[in-house]
Amino acid sequence: MSEPRIALITGANRGLGHATAAELHRRGLRVIVTARDADDAAEAAARIGPDVRSHPLDVTDPGGVERAAARLGPVDVLVCNAGVLLDAGDDPLSVPLERVERTLRVNLLGGWRVAQAFVPGMVSRGWGRVLFVSSGTGSFSVGLWTGAPAYSVSKTAVNGLTTMLATCTKGTGVLVNAVNPGQTRTRMVPTASRTPDEAAADIADAATLPDDGPTGVFLRGDRQMGW
Ligand SMILES: NC(=O)c1ccc[n+]([C@@H]2O[C@H](COP(=O)([O-])OP(=O)(O)OC[C@H]3O[C@@H](n4cnc5c(N)ncnc54)[C@H](OP(=O)(O)O)[C@@H]3O)[C@@H](O)[C@H]2O)c1
Repeated sequence: MSEPRIALITGANRGLGHATAAELHRRGLRVIVTARDADDAAEAAARIGPDVRSHPLDVTDPGGVERAAARLGPVDVLVCNAGVLLDAGDDPLSVPLERVERTLRVNLLGGWRVAQAFVPGMVSRGWGRVLFVSSGTGSFSVGLWTGAPAYSVSKTAVNGLTTMLATCTKGTGVLVNAVNPGQTRTRMVPTASRTPDEAAADIADAATLPDDGPTGVFLRGDRQMGW
């Protein structure tokens, strides 16, 4: 029997990241819960199961990401979930650009940094799944949400990054995609009706596509949506 795949999830102490880690664990993967705070990561891992590993990982900290990659070793499934929404109610013409920078540092550069740390190993081993938790607010096909300009444009950029990484890993056994979980009730969107467990099922599906699954696509449930 082959060894279970190892899945690392960023921002997995709460919200969609935690629900996704729990769902992947239920599906038999060996899960690594990561979070900015080491205690948060350890507590979140323990809530899933005694066999779940945890590691501190602030996606904005280059040294921390490097150390995590060195300590954790190979990862087969990477879910870049960590994200912030700092500018709800702002307007593109007046949003403080410092807020835009802080948003991009987590939502775009954070995921990019973690991908740089873990994806080359997947390519050299000839198998991997990389999933960016994006948003409909970053989709040109839906229309960017001007009510949170930094957040929306960060997700558009994440979508662009997804297509680039998919192109440069094509044919290597690594599939790189983005998922739109839809509005889900977490600290980020407390009024949404969808539960994290419902959204996590979609995220877990998109993170564990079969070998003949798509790469470089934007998924919403089991459908592809326009970028
Ligand atoms: N909820 C929705 O309706 C919805 C819809 C579309 C997309 N999304 C996306 O889904 C993802 C998860 O969001 P959520 O709804 O679960 O929100 P959430 O409950 O606010 O969770 C955000 C997670 O990101 C972590 N995080 C923030 N900055 C980080 C950093 N520098 N390094 C590592 N982790 C960091 C947070 O950790 P701390 O606890 O330490 O802050 C937390 O675990 C985000 O990318 C979000 O954009 C959510």
